[in-house]
Amino acid sequence: MVHINTKLGQIKGFVTDDQLSEYASKVESTFKTIYDKSGAGSDFLGWVTLPSEINDGFIQDIKNQADILREKSEIFVVVGIGGSYLGARAVIEALSHQFAPFISRKGETQVVYAGHNMSEEYMVELLELLDNKDYSMAVISKSGTTTEPAVAFRILKNHIEKKYGKEEAKTRIVAITDKERGALKTLADNEGYKTYVVPDDVGGRYSVLTPVGLLPIAVAGIDIEQLVKGALEVERYCQDNKNADNEVAKYAIARQALYHQGKTNEIMVSYEPRLHYIAEWWKQLYGESEGKDGKGIFPASDTFTTDLHSMGQYIQEGLRNLFETVISVKNPTKEIRIPLADNDLDQLNYIAGRRLSEVNQTAETATILAHVDGGVPNIVLEIPEISATIIGEMIYFFEMACALSGYMLEVNPFDQPGVEAYKKNMFALLGKKGLEDRAAALKERL
Ligand code: PA5
Repeated sequence: MVHINTKLGQIKGFVTDDQLSEYASKVESTFKTIYDKSGAGSDFLGWVTLPSEINDGFIQDIKNQADILREKSEIFVVVGIGGSYLGARAVIEALSHQFAPFISRKGETQVVYAGHNMSEEYMVELLELLDNKDYSMAVISKSGTTTEPAVAFRILKNHIEKKYGKEEAKTRIVAITDKERGALKTLADNEGYKTYVVPDDVGGRYSVLTPVGLLPIAVAGIDIEQLVKGALEVERYCQDNKNADNEVAKYAIARQALYHQGKTNEIMVSYEPRLHYIAEWWKQLYGESEGKDGKGIFPASDTFTTDLHSMGQYIQEGLRNLFETVISVKNPTKEIRIPLADNDLDQLNYIAGRRLSEVNQTAETATILAHVDGGVPNIVLEIPEISATIIGEMIYFFEMACALSGYMLEVNPFDQPGVEAYKKNMFALLGKKGLEDRAAALKERL
């Protein structure tokens, strides 16, 4: 059973049934390509069965390690970039109190992030925070060679060793990386850090249900069993429904049909700010998986109604190459009603007594209809509520839909060769040995 309902009523005016059928007819063979491991990048399909392979012992180990780290940490630093941090951040922000850093609850550990940028100002301010707090960290890199987390970790390792001494620092550092390759693996072995392995057959952006995501999520106090349970629901559902009526497949089909009608930009929309990083994770997943060989839907995101006051104009009347995918939450878990005012000076008494969520949901309905009228088709993904199980479902839903979409687009959804281009230039310009010619050629262009 899957609790994500894919509603396609608001794309009807933009794609014909025949156009949808064209992609629907590819679903069964595309599922087959995934399950038979016969497509491009098939060495990276470990995520397909990850939820059902996670056993109680593994979950307990992660939880025990998380408890050890929580016990000694007011702050937990996740050092990683791309798929090595976005999944954890997406889940943690979706399921934590939105003002958590300002509400001091004894025993709770706040998660912060490093190694996802190279800003000196960010790092100095992070160290200012860590000077005054007890902390521990996870350094996460599948390749073990990515520059941003490596640089951040070198600085943080220095800091934590000065603060606690080398021996205690070791108990506060966990490394999550490849089982044998990469500089991080060598460093972790040399230093004797507790280490978790990123499976060979799971790429970074598909790794949220490995220790990469699960350890930080558990440190944040989130129920990882429920998260995995949700993902498992969708794994089983896809196993049993490898057809075009599958809710996951419907999303993939709709995206392809819209893309081939010139709707090349997809905006992931939510009316719940806590889902902001789910959209960031989704953007990486889809951007890196589809954007290659001169093809691919450009993934963007907005949080409404906030961004209706910044991006709303463009969406309503700008270039007509957009479609939106709205994550629609049916049942908010918290309740507040709009109070009645004696004088009604703000003229809002007509909505007094109503829940704020009713106004938010009305804004959602009104916006969908306005954008459709403006030429922007809307896919709606309805979820019952935001909970660990539903977020787990969403993770697997989006991963499987991404693989289906990538194969329908005839690209390899599991590589990211384009990410190397900036790195080569950066290494050359920083003076790395062996790249002198490239550096000279680059400098001539400046
Ligand atoms: O999806 C991917 O593989 C990438 O986006 C990686 O997650 C990202 O580049 C970080 O790589 P690594 O975990 O090797 O440091």
